[in-house]
Amino acid sequence: MDAARRQHYLRLLGIETWALRGAQQAPAAVTPIAEPQAHAEIRQPMSRKTAAPAPPAAVPTALAAGSREVPADWSGLRAMVKDCQACKLCATRTQTVFGVGSEAAPLMVIGEGPGADEDAQGEPFVGRAGKLLDEMLKAIGRSRKQAAPDQAVFIANVVKCRPPGNRDPEADEVEACRPYLDRQIELVQPKLIVALGRVAAQRLLATDAPLSKLRGPLHRYGPTGTPVFVTYHPAYLLRSPREKAKSWEDLKRIHRHLAETA
Ligand code: URA
Ligand code: SF4
Repeated sequence: MDAARRQHYLRLLGIETWALRGAQQAPAAVTPIAEPQAHAEIRQPMSRKTAAPAPPAAVPTALAAGSREVPADWSGLRAMVKDCQACKLCATRTQTVFGVGSEAAPLMVIGEGPGADEDAQGEPFVGRAGKLLDEMLKAIGRSRKQAAPDQAVFIANVVKCRPPGNRDPEADEVEACRPYLDRQIELVQPKLIVALGRVAAQRLLATDAPLSKLRGPLHRYGPTGTPVFVTYHPAYLLRSPREKAKSWEDLKRIHRHLAETA
């Protein structure tokens, strides 16, 4: 990764000066931010009581979690997700958000769930956080647009439907949706999965560990033990300058891992 890219990335994040200074100084010089509240501002959770839609009494049992035959091909999978009613999020979505990118990408990026923009457009990460994600990917030479394998990425979420009010996806919703994500991983066969933010990482890896612990080590996911790195969610980076230099370190590690396993 060349210096120009680093410069571009840091300038983009508006952190050039403090990032350089941060190399010699403790980050305490920067306004402290309560780290675990990763999405408090952008994904304002509604109270569980007010956010929860009425229980989906009419969910067909054939589609209930666990009892689905999930198609083994992309078109069948897409069709099933499109009409899915396997969890209560189906009641409040505008449309499902399947995923975007190259179906054979070495890198798979997984977020927590669609927000309002994604729910309206049917594509993951198209809002402000999405723009930053695109820049983060660009910094390591990747694009969601159809691209050569060494530039390709597939982007998805742990739930395909927007949680109302942008609350965190609940455990039962993630479990209901997991067969789709698992099939996507099986079809893409990525060399590396990157989980964005605490919620996606905790749900994906089925752990309560804080982001500070999850970031750093290489994790494994699924029967094939696909390598997983955890990094900050772009929505968090947009308003938490303290972590942006560390995000750059993560991107370099991601880039290196992909280069080494190419
Ligand atoms: N945040 C996410 O985690 N996923 C999206 O698709 C958009 C915002
Ligand atoms: Fe189905 Fe997933 Fe949407 Fe729930 S979130 S209705 S499991 S597609």
